[in-house]
Amino acid sequence: MIALLFVLLVQRQTVSFDHAWRFHLGDVAGAQELAFADSGWRTLDLPHDWSIEGEFSEQNLAGVGGGALPGGVGWYRKRFAVPAADSGKLIFVEFDGVYRNSEVWINGQYLGKRPYGYSSFRCDLTPHLHYRGRNVIAVRVDNSQQPNSRWYSGSGIYRHVRLVTTGPVHVDQWGTYVTTPTASADSARVTIRTTIRNARPAEQAIALRTAMYDSAGQAVAVVSTTGRVPGDSVTEIAQDLTIARPALWSLERPYLYRAVARVMCGNRACDAYTTPFGLRSFVFRADSGFFLNGRRVKIRGVCLHHDLGALGAAVNTRAIERQLEIMRAMGVNAIRTSHNPPAPELLELTDRMGFIVLDEAFDMWKKEKTKHDYHLDWDAWHVRDLSDMVRRDRNHPSVFMWSIGNEVMEQWTNDDSTAAPIARELAGIVRALDSTRPITQAANNGSPQNPVFHAGALDLLGHNYHHEVWADFPAQYPGAKFIITEAMSALNSRGVYEQPSDSVASYETPYVKNHGPQPNKDYRLSSYDNRKAFWGSLHEESLRLFERYPFLSGMFIWQGIDYLGEPTPYEWPARSSYFGVVDLAGFPKDPFYLYQSVWTDAPMLHLFPHWNWKPGDTVDVWAYTNADEVELFLNGASLGVKRKPEPVSHVMWRVAYVPGTLRAIARKAGRVTVTAEVKTAGTPARIALAPDRSRIRADGDDLSFIAVTVQDSAGVPVLNAEPLIRLRIRGDARIVGVDNGDQISHTSFQANAVRLFNGKALVIVRAGTRPGTATLTAEADGLPPATVTIRPNSRP
Ligand code: GAL
Repeated sequence: MIALLFVLLVQRQTVSFDHAWRFHLGDVAGAQELAFADSGWRTLDLPHDWSIEGEFSEQNLAGVGGGALPGGVGWYRKRFAVPAADSGKLIFVEFDGVYRNSEVWINGQYLGKRPYGYSSFRCDLTPHLHYRGRNVIAVRVDNSQQPNSRWYSGSGIYRHVRLVTTGPVHVDQWGTYVTTPTASADSARVTIRTTIRNARPAEQAIALRTAMYDSAGQAVAVVSTTGRVPGDSVTEIAQDLTIARPALWSLERPYLYRAVARVMCGNRACDAYTTPFGLRSFVFRADSGFFLNGRRVKIRGVCLHHDLGALGAAVNTRAIERQLEIMRAMGVNAIRTSHNPPAPELLELTDRMGFIVLDEAFDMWKKEKTKHDYHLDWDAWHVRDLSDMVRRDRNHPSVFMWSIGNEVMEQWTNDDSTAAPIARELAGIVRALDSTRPITQAANNGSPQNPVFHAGALDLLGHNYHHEVWADFPAQYPGAKFIITEAMSALNSRGVYEQPSDSVASYETPYVKNHGPQPNKDYRLSSYDNRKAFWGSLHEESLRLFERYPFLSGMFIWQGIDYLGEPTPYEWPARSSYFGVVDLAGFPKDPFYLYQSVWTDAPMLHLFPHWNWKPGDTVDVWAYTNADEVELFLNGASLGVKRKPEPVSHVMWRVAYVPGTLRAIARKAGRVTVTAEVKTAGTPARIALAPDRSRIRADGDDLSFIAVTVQDSAGVPVLNAEPLIRLRIRGDARIVGVDNGDQISHTSFQANAVRLFNGKALVIVRAGTRPGTATLTAEADGLPPATVTIRPNSRP
C-alpha cells in the first residue's frame, strides 16, 4: 500500500489549469508582481478570447480582414498553491496557444516570451515556486500591433492550459515518437523513440518498459530496455515492437492504440507517459494519387481557419467536433489547418473521427503579408515554431502531410537566394523530426518558374487555384506528385437568390478590378453557384476537374465553413467571409449539396430556392442529387425531367412563379431514390427550436447548438422570414453565442437576441456543472413563445 502510494506520488500529474483566472483588458504596470492587487479584475475560465466580446467597428485596427473586432493588450493572473510534498518535483505550465506575443511570469520572475500565437509551449515554474503560501502566474498578451493577420485571430489565452508535475527523471515534453515502418492486416512493426530527461546533476540508470494497448485496454505488445541518462541531459531510447493482426487506422474505422511508457529509476517508478497512436500505411503516387492501407482514397478536403464562429477563437471541443460532423455530412474526408498549427483538440478529433489532416505551419516566411505579422519574428522563431509543431503533432495518425507555408511572398521572387534556401531549410527541419510524411507548400504561383518548386524541398507539389493548368502538371513536372492545397474561393451568402441567375459574376466585371464582383446593395451574395473571386472558380468548375484527374491526390476547398474576417472582395460593412460552403453559424449553403451529390452515396436530393416569390417572377429552380435525373412538378404538373449532364452538375428549370408546391423526384436507373419539396409559406405563426443534442454533459464545457426557424400555421418553414428573436434561459446553462450567418450583421455574438437571416438563426447553449434541466425560451413580436429543454447530465 505504502509502495503503491509512493509510486503514485512520484509519477506525473496533469491537471487542467483553465479555471479561475483574473483578467484585465489593457496594459497595467507591475501586473506581473506577486503582490499586485487584482481583486478588481474579472474572474473567468480559459480558454478565453477577448476580441469576440468586443464591438464590430470599421475603426478597429485589425480592419475587416481581421473581423473588424478589437485587439489590444490583456493581462491574465492566476493564484495557486503547491503542496509541500511537491518540492523536489518539476512543475510546468503548458499553454496550447496564446494569441499573441505572450510573456509569462511566475511570482514576479520573467519566464519568457512566445510571439507566434499558434504555437504550443511550456514554462518550467519549479525554481521560483513557493511551497508555503501563494504563487501567482501572470501572462501579458499583446495583440495591439495591427494588422498582423489576414483573418480573425482572436486575442488572449484562447486554448487550454495545464499544470504538469513530474519527477526529475521524466519523459520530456512531446517526448515520444511512434512510427509504423510496416503495417498490414497480418502484422505491424512499431518503433517508439522515447526521450527521457534527467534534471538531476547525477547520472541515472533507468529501465523503460513500453506497453501497447488496443482500444479495449488489452496489452498487445510489451518491450523493456535499460539505459542511463547523464546528469542534466536527455537520452533517447528506441524500441521496436510487433503487433500481430492489428486493427489498422482507416477513415471508416479510425482505430487507436495507446503506448504507455513506464520509466523505472532503479526499483522506483519515476514516470508514466501515454501516447495514443494508429497503425496505417500510405503512399502518394505520381500517376494515381493517394493510397491508404493499399486502397486508393481521393483526398476530398476543406481548408478551415481556427475560429468557431460566434464563439470566436476560444477552443471548445464540442464546437470543433460539430464542425467536423457538418463537414463529414458533406462528404469531406480531409482538413487543411490553414494556415497555422491547430488546437491539439482538432487532431484528437480527426484521429478519433477518421479525417486526413494537412498540418500547416505558416502563412508567411520572411516577407510580410500584413505590416505586423510573423515576418517580424521569422528570424528568431521559425526554427523553434516549426520544430515544435512537428514534435507535438507527429504521433497523430490523422496527420498525413506537413505544409511549410501558404502562398508565401518568396515564391514570386526570381531571387533563388531567398525562396529556395528557406524552403530547403524548413523541409530539412521537418524531415529531421519526421521523415514518414510528405512535405508540401501551398503555392498560388503555379508557373514552372516558381523557385520553391525547384528547391528540391517538396515531396508533394501543392497548388492553389488555377484549375486551367492542372491538366498540364504531369507534362510540366514529370514524375512529381500533386495535391491541390486550395481551390474554389466561390462566393455565397446563405439563402439569397437573385433572378435570373445565368450570369457568372467574377472579378471580370468592371467594378471589380480592385474590389470584386459588385455586391448587391446589401452585401449579400447569391446562393447559386455563380459568384467567384477572380483567382478562384465556381464550385462545379474545379470539382469537375478534380474528380477527373487521377494524378491529383487531393483537393482542399477554400473554405469549408465561413470564418471571421476576410470578407474579400468586400469591405465594411462586411466582416466575415463569403467563401464557406457552410455559413458562419454552421448552416449549409446550397453548394454544400453539390459536394454531397458527388462525395456521398446515400440517396440525396436538394431543391432550391424557397417558394415565396411575387406573381410574375421568373425563378431558376436548381436541384443537386446523386441520382441520374430529376423530375420537377409545380402544383402537380410536371415541368419536365432533367438528366444530370455529368456527375458534377446541377439540374435547372426556369419557372414562371405561381404559389403552391414544388416537388422533385430523383431517379436512378429508372427507379425513384428520393423526393424533395418546397412550399409557399404563409406568414410566420410559430417559432421552432431544434437542438443538435438535447442531452449534454454537465461538465461546464459541453454545448447544445439550437437552430431557430419559423413556420406558418400549417407547419411550413418560412424560409425567407427575418423576425427578431429574444432569448432567455433558466437552469444551470448559459447562452454563449448567437449567430445567423449573415456576413454584415453587427450584432454582438454574445447578445440575448438574434434576427433570423433567411429563415434561420443559431443559439449556442453551454452546460453548467449541475445536472438537471435548462429551458431556453424564444420570443418574437406577434408569435407565441417557444421553449426547448436541454438536459445537462452527469454521464461521462
Ligand atoms: C488564398 C489564401 C487564403 C485566402 C483565399 C481567399 O489565396 O491562401 O488564405 O485568402 O485566398 O480567396
